[in-house]
Formats: sequence, structure tokens, C-alpha cells
Amino acid sequence: MTGARPWWQTGVIYQVYPRSFQDSDGDGVGDLQGVRQRLDHLAWLGVDALWLSPFYPSPQADFGYDVADFCGVDPLFGDLAAFDRLVADAHARGLRVIVDWVPNHSSDRHPWFEQSRRSRDAPKRDWYVWRDPAPDGAPPTNWQSPFGGPAWTLDETTGQMYLHSFLAEQPDLNWRSPALRAAMFDTLRFWMARGVDGFRIDVAHHVLKDPAFRDNPPNPAPSGGHKPASAYDAQLHVHEKDHPDAHALYREVRAVVDGFDDRERVTLGEIHLPDALDRWAAYFGEALDEIHLPIHFGLLDVDWTPDGLRRHVAAVEAAVPPGGWPTYVLGNHDERRLATRLGAAHARLATVLLLTLRGTPTLYNGDEIGIPDVDVPDARRRDPMGLRSGVPALGRDSGRTPMAWDGSASAGFSTAPPDALWLPLHPDHARVNVEAQRNDPASLLRLTRRLLALRRRHPALHAGSYRALAAAGEVFAFERRQGEDAVIVALNLSGATQPLPRAVGSLLLSTAGTSERRAHLGAWEGVLASPPSRPGGPPLADGP
Ligand code: GLC
Repeated sequence: MTGARPWWQTGVIYQVYPRSFQDSDGDGVGDLQGVRQRLDHLAWLGVDALWLSPFYPSPQADFGYDVADFCGVDPLFGDLAAFDRLVADAHARGLRVIVDWVPNHSSDRHPWFEQSRRSRDAPKRDWYVWRDPAPDGAPPTNWQSPFGGPAWTLDETTGQMYLHSFLAEQPDLNWRSPALRAAMFDTLRFWMARGVDGFRIDVAHHVLKDPAFRDNPPNPAPSGGHKPASAYDAQLHVHEKDHPDAHALYREVRAVVDGFDDRERVTLGEIHLPDALDRWAAYFGEALDEIHLPIHFGLLDVDWTPDGLRRHVAAVEAAVPPGGWPTYVLGNHDERRLATRLGAAHARLATVLLLTLRGTPTLYNGDEIGIPDVDVPDARRRDPMGLRSGVPALGRDSGRTPMAWDGSASAGFSTAPPDALWLPLHPDHARVNVEAQRNDPASLLRLTRRLLALRRRHPALHAGSYRALAAAGEVFAFERRQGEDAVIVALNLSGATQPLPRAVGSLLLSTAGTSERRAHLGAWEGVLASPPSRPGGPPLADGP
């Protein structure tokens, strides 16, 4: 029973990075037909939707986030017919399909940009952001790209500079142009007509910029958060990010998406404002009429202590407006791998947390088997973030390596030999792969599947409320409840034995694999349990 909640609140979303999921034609790069061949994995695992990172025609300067045609499929990944077959087969298995929508920029090879750059009075000139350089040739603002260097590049043809918040190959679209707006809304309609169930909106908070083009102030406390700091972090990004005008735009986007037909679709917004929960939450919209699920990235750099987690979840819960629904993430194609960031035991515990908090979780492909970060040799590094930013450690290749499906030479990912894959496989793929873990009841894969099954079975887990519980020692505990259905989650965040919270009744699941009730939680053990059934049993105290 799921009550009246929509699928995107009760469900779990699985991110497929198409380049690394399954290669069906032996070129060493994954493709849509490959994703289709692996749909049974997702159905077996028990997720509800897949989100496909970009597969659109693209020079691949930013691995697909530089889109040269918003309404096509790059031959590298297949064609529209392959996409349609994938959607049909996913729907036949009850899996929804979410596609990436990249509204902030296109590729410099998009015909729109090629037309825009032709002359100062080209009909599509205002589809991009053009400004004169300063008299000394300097860029019109001090805005920087996180990939390194200024966010402006001079175009010799007209002597003006164009804005690119990311690579020079990714010119920013000008959302203040009504014609551009209309054209981009049509791209949403194009994919909705092909049956997609929603959109993940790339850098959703970047789309509109200060119309007065003011300089950003310096950052008094530069920090890269959980990533190494770079020159980009020396500024406060107040004038080219999170502009208030974005909210009116997302009300329009929402109306286009909700108004298309009767299908219940979702928008997921990539919004990196981890230190400004109020500004992040503003993307729900005052009348919950903007982005359905603004993604919160705070778990990526949370303090993994009982108090740190309790405070973090409380802050997110307090920020989400009434009727809104949180969404959490522990990994994606821009991050280091979960299993390496936290270590294997801690990653298991983190998976329990991700799949039991109130909200829609997004699982990143490969994290369900604990693929580690790969130390990609210099000669095989591909990501411009590492190659061009001046900070090699910012390179994202290490978390984008191919899925490992079995113990064969190329791990079942491809028929191409290992050194012909676009990125190397992780070194332990003979052991850490889907087939091996399917056969191992103690594996992370089987744990993830059991968690997903429990989540589906219990309204408390997929639809219920959240309440922190008092717990002694290094334990973070909370209750999820929907009517009569209640599930207690208790996580030991330490390598030492800790007391089992009094609120724990009979065990539904333990990361240690045993369902016998004990007085203690083992090292890094997490449990799901019923509340004590004994009448007059221990009261469920609110956590601090
Ligand atoms: C988003 C994507 C990232 C990409 C960037 C620019 O952050 O997740 O991979 O590089 O946008 O499009």
C-alpha cells in the first residue's frame, strides 16, 4: 500500500551512466542497446526508475554534457529507435525512464551556436550570452569556470565574448530570450512524446545570470567542500548562480511537464547549494510548483557521527516545505566512489541510511556492488575537470569506470579487450562483480536488494514520517512510521560494539546477515527492526 503518494516519492531511482553500463557493439563504450540488455538487473535489484545521463549527439568534450542536438541520439549510443526500444522494454518491466536535460548550455557545435556566432545581428545571436570585452581585452566579468580559467571566450568573428559557465565548448544558453525558451521547452515535449517519465535537470541553479553582469566578490573562506579547492573557489558565486529569476523559469518548466498529458512525470534538479538550505529549498517553489525533487547533496560531505547525521537530517527535514519530499544521494558520475570514500563496511551502512531515510534515493550504477575508485593512469585520463582545472585530483574518471558484470576479461561490460575500454575496469573486477555478488548472500548487492524489497513492502519506509530516536554510544537511530506500520533503523557508526537502542524490537534485517536479536550492534552494523511489540515496552523517545 503506498497511499496517495506518486511513484517518484515512493520509488528509488538508479542512475545509469551510459558510457559505462554495457557496451553492446564492442567499441569499448556503453550504449543504449547495452542498457536495454541489462534491464533485468534493475528489475531484479528492485529499483523503480532509471535516470540516463546524456546520450545525445555530442562531441563528448564533457562526456555528453555538451549537447549538439537536444532531440537526438549520438551514434556512439545508438539511435532514436534504440531509445524507443529501451523505453518500451523498461516500461514492460515496470521501470520508469528519466532522461537528463541540460538547459544551461549546449555544445559549441550545436547548430544554434554556429548560427549565433555568425554575426552580431544573426537571428539567433541572443540565444547565447554575448558581451563586449573590456577596453583592455579583459572578460566582461570576473566569472570563472570550475574547469579552469575565465567563463568567457573571445570569438574572433565578431570580436565579442561568449559566456560558458563550464568548458569553452559549452556556451551558456540565454534563457532571457523568449525564442530560446520556446525552443528548449519543445525539447522537453519531444522526449515526453517518446514516453519518458521525467527529467534530471543538469545544473538547474545555473540557468539565469545577473542581467547587470556584476563581478563576483571574493570568497573570504575558500573551500572546495568535500573536494579539493581550486581557483574557482576563490569567489562567491553570487551573480552567475542561483539567480532569483530561475524560479519563474522553473514554474514554466513545471507547467510544460505537468501539462503535457496524463502521465505522472518528475523533475529532479541538480542544485549544489549545500550550505544554503533555504535557497536550495526555494526550488520546490512557494506553491510546490517548481522542481519536484531538488537534489540535496549534503550526505556527500556529512559528518558521519550520530550527532552529525541527526543534525543534517533534521536540517534537511526542516528545510523541505510542507508537502515537499526530500531526495538524497551518496554517489554519481561527478564524485569519487562511495566504497572508497567511506571504506567497505561504512559503505554498507551508508547504503542502509540512503535507502531508509524519508525521501527518494538515487543510486549510482556500480555502487550496489561497491566498485571502488580507480587510480586511472595518466595516459588514460579523460575528464576535462582534471585535465584542464590545474587540479588533477578533481578529475572524475576514477568514479566513472565501467560496470563489472562477471569475472571475464572485460567483466561482461564489453567484448572489446580491457585496454580498449574507454576507461579501465576497476582492478578487483574478477571478484567485485554482479555475478559473484548475486551468488554471495553476504554481498553488498544482496544487501541492497533486501533493503529495496523491505522498502517496497513497508509503507513506513517508502511513504512514512521520520523521527530521530535517542540512542547511546556511536549509534544513529530513527523511526519511520506510516499509520500502524513502523520500522526502526539503528546504525553503529563505529568499529566497536555498541549497545542496541531500546527502541529496537525484532530484527527485519542486519548488515551482519543475522536476524537474531542481541543486546549489541557489531562494528559498523546497521539494523532494520520492528518496534518492541511488548505492551508497555520502551517508549520511543525523541532524539535531541
Ligand atoms: C553537471 C554534470 C557534470 C557536468 C556539468 C556541466 O554538474 O553532472 O557531469 O560536467 O553539469 O554540464
